Amino acid sequence: MADTSVTSYKVWDVPVRLFHWINFLSVLTLIAFGLVIYNGGALGLSNEGKALMKTLHVWAGYVFAVNLAIRLVWAFMGNAHARWSAILPGGRGYGAALRAYIRGDGTAWLGHNPLGRLAVTAMLLALIGQAVTGLVLAGTDIYYPPFGGMIAEWIAADGVDPSSLVPYGPKELLDAAAYQDMRAFRKPYIEVHEWLFFTLLGLITLHIAAVVMAEIRHGGTLVSAMFTGRKHYDRTPEDKAEGALAPSFDLGAS
Ligand code: HEM
Repeated sequence: MADTSVTSYKVWDVPVRLFHWINFLSVLTLIAFGLVIYNGGALGLSNEGKALMKTLHVWAGYVFAVNLAIRLVWAFMGNAHARWSAILPGGRGYGAALRAYIRGDGTAWLGHNPLGRLAVTAMLLALIGQAVTGLVLAGTDIYYPPFGGMIAEWIAADGVDPSSLVPYGPKELLDAAAYQDMRAFRKPYIEVHEWLFFTLLGLITLHIAAVVMAEIRHGGTLVSAMFTGRKHYDRTPEDKAEGALAPSFDLGAS
């Protein structure tokens, strides 16, 4: 008779689960405010409305950026499945494991499966890019930290207190040439911020579709594991590496 016993494994530690849901909520909020800013013209937003939307977006951005920074550090300290060695693609046997997974070999994984590593790495890169470009834009657009003080000093007219500058404020307070230079400096940041926004929309859609498909195909309680931290399998997961820091890709003789 086939062995149908199911084993419960502890996978995602508390910091990883907290990161995931804070990231989910803050990115959702950032997308909502970002879409309003992006369509500000069509929505007929006043300058005050635009400044308010940018300010709310930036506050959500701080939550998002701090949460992301903590996660990047936790990848050096967390359990075996939280670490860079379990996130980044590569390592011994990775290529073979990826090809086998894509072929639908039916393997079960506790942490990220080989294809999931590619998606998570791409998402992390896009999120880091959004955090960096967003923090620069917070300075150029509404003079908020960490760079807002420097930007305001750069563009304030002679004799004007930089801390008195407000978004969409009177042009007379600005040094016209310095303001033009600042707008030119800002341009690549807003372009990358927009481009990464659309990239992220695609990656998030893929991520959700892949999680749902993996759950339907292979079981393993992927979705509930992000709440409980545990996955349940009726077969031995490939990366079950008790006491080891880096999950193994050793697929045996196959
Ligand atoms: C996943 C994270 C993020 C997403 C999806 C996102 C999305 C967007 C979108 C769609 C826009 C409108 C772009 C446009 O009008 O051309 C925008 C603008 C902006 N974002 Fe973000 N953002 C993110 C993170 C951040 C962070 C971390 C900050 C800063 C703390 C930030 C600061 C800004 C600012 C200041 C603007 C206004 C730029 C403008 O004038 O349009 N963003 N963001």
